[in-house]
Amino acid sequence: MNKKVLLVGDGAVGSTFANDLLQHTSVDELVICDVLKKRPVGDSMDLEDILPFTGECNIHSGEYSDAKDAAVVVITAGVPRKPGESRLDLVNKNVSILKSIIQPVVESGFDGIFLVSANPVDILTTLTQKLSGFPKNKVIGTGTSLDTARLKVDLAKRLNVPVAEINSMVLGEHGDTSFENFDESTVSGKSLKEFANIDDHILDQVELNIRQKGGKIIENKGATFYGIAMMLTQIVTAILTNRSIALPLSAPINGEYGIKSNLYLGTPAVIDGSGVSQVIETELSEPEKAKMVNSATKMQEVLDNITL
Ligand code: LAC
Repeated sequence: MNKKVLLVGDGAVGSTFANDLLQHTSVDELVICDVLKKRPVGDSMDLEDILPFTGECNIHSGEYSDAKDAAVVVITAGVPRKPGESRLDLVNKNVSILKSIIQPVVESGFDGIFLVSANPVDILTTLTQKLSGFPKNKVIGTGTSLDTARLKVDLAKRLNVPVAEINSMVLGEHGDTSFENFDESTVSGKSLKEFANIDDHILDQVELNIRQKGGKIIENKGATFYGIAMMLTQIVTAILTNRSIALPLSAPINGEYGIKSNLYLGTPAVIDGSGVSQVIETELSEPEKAKMVNSATKMQEVLDNITL
C-alpha cells in the first residue's frame, strides 16, 4: 500500500496529528492542505526537522488533487467550537466546508479511506459517505473514541487501577446524547458496578464529566487537540500498517441496536487496511439500548434538516 496521507485542515488538531503520526508509524508522504495557504508551508518545514529521529517522509503542502494516490484523507477542517457552543451548533458552517473538500478529493481519483474528526463528527462522517458515494467501510469518524479514552482515564484515577484494566466505552453521538455502557463495564474482569463503592450517583457524575470535558478544555485553553490527534493517529496507523484495532468510533450503522436510520454513530468497530472491517454490535442493557436509539434519533433529526 502507498503510505501516503493527505491532511485537510492544519489547525491545532491537524498539526498535532501530523506530529503524532510521524512519531508513531512510517509514512511515505504527508501532504498538508489548508485554506490558509502559508500555514502548511510552515508546518511542513517545521515537521521536517523531526525526521532525523523518526524516519524519512516526504512532507509538503499541497492541494486536494494530491489525494489521487493517497491511502487516507484525514479531515480536521472546520470551524471549531467556541466556549459554550455545542458540537451541533457547528452543523451548517461545517457542512459547507465539508462539501468544498469532498468533491475535489473525489474528482482527484482518490480511492482510499476518508477519516473525519471535524464536528459534529457523526453528522459530518455520514455526509462524507453520502457526498463521496464511497463504500461505507471506507469512511470513518473518530466518534466516541476520544470520550472512551477520557472515560478510561477518569475511572482509572477514581478506582486507582491501571488504565489498561478498564473495559468501558462511551457510545452513541460524540456529543450531548452520548452514554456509557456501565452495565457491561468491567475492571480486570470484575463488573464495574460491583467494584469498590461505585454507585449510580457516582456513575452519573462520571457520565457528566466525560460529556463536559471537551467543553471545559475549550473554556480553559481555547481548543482540544492532544486527545483527538491521538485518536486520529491510532486509526491511521491501523490503516497504514493493516494491523487491526477495535475502538468505539463513528461507524456505519446497518440495523444494529434496532436502529432504522442509515447513519454513522459511536459503536465499537474493527479498523484495518480495508477501513471498517467489522461493526461490533456490543451487548447493551435495555436502558442503554434506548439511549443508543435516542442518539440515533437525534442525529437523524439533524440530518433531515440539512440540504446538501
Ligand atoms: C473534543 C472535541 C474533539 O471533544 O469534540 O475534544
